[in-house]
Amino acid sequence: MPQFPAHRIFPTPDAASEALAAEIGDLVSTRSSEDRSVVLGLATGSTPIRLYAELTRLHREGLSFSNVITFNLDEYLGLGRDHPESYWQFMHVRLFDHIDIPPENIHIPDGGIPDGELEGYCAGYEEAISEAGGIDLQVLGIGRNGHIGFNEPGADPNLPTHVTKLNEVTIGDAAEAFGGAGNVPRRAITMGVKTILEARRVALLAFGESKAEIVRLSLSPGVTSQIPATYLQLHRDSTYFLDQDAGAQLG
Ligand code: GLP
Repeated sequence: MPQFPAHRIFPTPDAASEALAAEIGDLVSTRSSEDRSVVLGLATGSTPIRLYAELTRLHREGLSFSNVITFNLDEYLGLGRDHPESYWQFMHVRLFDHIDIPPENIHIPDGGIPDGELEGYCAGYEEAISEAGGIDLQVLGIGRNGHIGFNEPGADPNLPTHVTKLNEVTIGDAAEAFGGAGNVPRRAITMGVKTILEARRVALLAFGESKAEIVRLSLSPGVTSQIPATYLQLHRDSTYFLDQDAGAQLG
């Protein structure tokens, strides 16, 4: 039986990003030739920046994203769209401002929703994914503590989109961008592990030495909530796209 996630090690982050962008580009153009839409789950963080640059390049070369519907994984709670660190800003600056995706096809959890409305908002996010036909391909990064989206160690794998608290490692990793750990939001909206596992295909990107240990641990057989990325071992079409440094501890 094949083991999942599969992993592919590329010489550089650029090569890994280009390979995933090519896969996404093929999916988008095949669906377009069939007059069908394609639903992408998207991630933020420093890792997918090159992927989005490559998708932008494919668009400049003629690939249309007019049949693409996107759902982002997560967003910090308490940050409005205009906040420079919001994932809404990130996605527009890195990708959406440069391609022809219809704005109404873009879904990013709204970090400005008041507490009393969050439960209904999260349920609505899940409904929108179902109504779009489910996610065809989910892009993921991985936190140094093994989180996917903001599903932190200890995450309940049965949860759909929900509100979660950020872990200390995650807050520490975000501190610089926010000008100090004290400014990092403590909570986020995130797709759940359940949402991620329902995607028809999952592609996780990880680059650099700092990810080598968690990449090895998350691919070691055995599922544990202490390393949420291990839940991807339950997915029958999941692939890690790694550079040499991130794959360095794999046998
Ligand atoms: C954040 C995001 C994750 C992302 C992780 C890793 O916490 N919520 O989706 O995978 O950071 O970020 P980076 O790619 O910058 O290492």
